[in-house]
Amino acid sequence: MSIKFNKRGFFQRLLGIPATGNPGVDGCWDYADGKLTVDLGKAVELKTPGGAIKLEGNNLPKRVLVVFGEDGNYHAYHNKCSHMGRRLDPVPGTDTVQCCSISKSTYDVEGGYLHGPKHHPILSFPIKKDQEKLIISVS
Ligand code: FES
Repeated sequence: MSIKFNKRGFFQRLLGIPATGNPGVDGCWDYADGKLTVDLGKAVELKTPGGAIKLEGNNLPKRVLVVFGEDGNYHAYHNKCSHMGRRLDPVPGTDTVQCCSISKSTYDVEGGYLHGPKHHPILSFPIKKDQEKLIISVS
């Protein structure tokens, strides 16, 4: 499998600045009792395949990257590269996610290792769709 790389500037990679932003609408997600709930009616970034949001802060125990995959399914990952812990982005036109840093560690749709200096997977979280809500088990 050939790896496709996101087009990012040198300083963006050096500083570890991801392409994926926070949700544009406050209150589109909530976390309680190990369950992260995303309201798809408010998370406009997840309406189109390839879209993604990063969720962190408040009482969320781990940073989470939520992707509406090119495969038409939703995916949620621990947003922490297995190399040095920087954040991840989906790679357009693929079902991979990739570290925003210099070494571009890349993972498959299930978080399996594909490319990069540390041959370890990332954690992917179980995700269920219930009408207009995504329920993600964050452990
Ligand atoms: S932190 Fe991700 S490749 Fe180094």
